[in-house]
Amino acid sequence: MSYVANDEVRPDSPMIRAIEKRGGVVPVRYGQVACLVAEVEGEVVGMVHTAPPVDWLATFPKNRARALAQRILQIELLAVDPEHRGQGVGQALLESAENRLLDQRGHLVYAKVRAGDYPVMRWYRRRGYTIAAQGQSVLINTTQGLTGIEDCGDGYQLAAKAVQPGTKIERFQDQGSEHLIAARSA
Ligand SMILES: CC(C)(COP(=O)(O)OP(=O)(O)OC[C@H]1O[C@@H](n2cnc3c(N)ncnc32)[C@H](O)[C@@H]1OP(=O)(O)O)[C@@H](O)C(=O)NCCC(=O)NCCS
Repeated sequence: MSYVANDEVRPDSPMIRAIEKRGGVVPVRYGQVACLVAEVEGEVVGMVHTAPPVDWLATFPKNRARALAQRILQIELLAVDPEHRGQGVGQALLESAENRLLDQRGHLVYAKVRAGDYPVMRWYRRRGYTIAAQGQSVLINTTQGLTGIEDCGDGYQLAAKAVQPGTKIERFQDQGSEHLIAARSA
């Protein structure tokens, strides 16, 4: 069996060539949408689709949106074929997405998990993610102050991870509400 692994996700790797053959990396308004696949004997058994959070970015002036897009990555979709689960394929795909963000010197990666899907929440937690309560935002500190992503009240909860070494997600009180924030570790 072969599947995507950390050090294989490099611009000249066979994996990336295979993805590009499928048109998997597409430029969008503020960055790139990327679709990485895991293959076993030429068959796709898993996929991670990442994108800058375009709707949220569109609420900022263009220059600021471009800068923010480098810092935050959304996992739009992560799925592994049921017959190939439990073998590390999902984790390898997740790590490849995190590495993309690290390569662009980004800070925060997040996914939206269906509210109440405890097995998936646990899966993310075991991989260093913090699960936000419904309605709870995840903030990052920028030169222009704190700004953050929310779950849009659509039945999903955010699973977020601070990817830079020496940073982590912490709880943070602001004006009587608790948020999560990507902060430097003490
Ligand atoms: C979440 C998902 C991507 C994980 O993919 P995966 O390839 O099974 O992930 P991994 O192999 O890295 O980890 C599987 C975990 O389940 C355990 N496991 C063992 N056998 C398993 C099996 N037959 N099936 C599933 N999980 C199994 C593993 O031990 C591991 O446990 P851990 O979290 O305690 O380490 C996959 O379950 C999936 O596609 N789910 C449906 C889509 C979804 O919910 N996506 C996430 C929404 S953003």
